[in-house]
Amino acid sequence: MDGLLFYEKSKEANLAQPVLVDTDPGIDDAMAILLALRSPELEVRALTTVHGNADVLQTARNARQILELAERSDIPVAMGAAQPLVRPFAGVVDYVHGANGLGNVSLPAPKMPLVNMPAACFIVEQVMAAPGELTILTLGPLTNLALALHLKPEIAHLVRGVVLMGGAAFCEGNVSPVAEANIYHDPEAARMVFEAPWPLTMVGLDVTKKVVMDKPYLAELQQAGNRFTQFIASIIPCYIAYHNARYQLDGFHVHDPSAVAYLIRPELFRTQEYYVQVETQGSCQGYTVVDRLGLYGQKPNVKVCVDVDAEGVLTLYKQRLTC
Ligand code: BDR
Ligand code: CA
Repeated sequence: MDGLLFYEKSKEANLAQPVLVDTDPGIDDAMAILLALRSPELEVRALTTVHGNADVLQTARNARQILELAERSDIPVAMGAAQPLVRPFAGVVDYVHGANGLGNVSLPAPKMPLVNMPAACFIVEQVMAAPGELTILTLGPLTNLALALHLKPEIAHLVRGVVLMGGAAFCEGNVSPVAEANIYHDPEAARMVFEAPWPLTMVGLDVTKKVVMDKPYLAELQQAGNRFTQFIASIIPCYIAYHNARYQLDGFHVHDPSAVAYLIRPELFRTQEYYVQVETQGSCQGYTVVDRLGLYGQKPNVKVCVDVDAEGVLTLYKQRLTC
């Protein structure tokens, strides 16, 4: 079925899954948000923003600029935590995402206002307004979600699920030998989120590093020549330069968009349920410890993505951004 027909049918049958996206845009966050907005399987109800790839004022600005680029200023944006729960903000990751988080590309100043409440309160409000319906997708450090849980622990029973881009189950980390950035940057928040009794899916480096957009793929994407693919082409050079220097890769790992792909096409991923605990201290800060053999005697608390049909994710991305 082609994309447009599926879109019409999904709308008719009201099949779209409502999603709140908590994000720290970020080059790959921007690419992920665009994929979500262009996918009829998802209804993006709101964005909430957090410190991470840039400071929270900048990520709140970037989120609104991305929505305005997509002519979706009807989607509310609430700004969230400026720093992790118990640590200072680690600083802008300018060598990965550029000084402004969007590859140093300037977009027009956003016109849409922010929601007049902090992200954590807004998350609680959104969950309570649609009990059992909302999926929360997180693409940055988990501070906002931990604060929302602290405000209203009941939300853990009232969401449809939480899908997070973060963690490294059986592979090395990307900010330390063991830790992935989103978990590393607020490990106390991550631990709270992993311990809460909601259905949690981890889309971590085990799968996101298998999905690589290389130069020929990116050239084909750019050839579509629409405002989305042009925007993507403009923001990615510094992301490629980082991956080139660190991994000798002529392209980049597809982190946040893979988490959106999981929501749209979960059958592209192989998952396994495990008990996972987050280490908060010392040289293993941010390590997602997976108890593969059940040695802690705890029930599984996370559905971990362990493998992916990388070609399937890349095809999906191209299809949605170029149609
Ligand atoms: C994660 O860290 C950030 O740099 C990316 O936006 C992604 O969410 C990957 O480890
Ligand atoms: Ca991110």
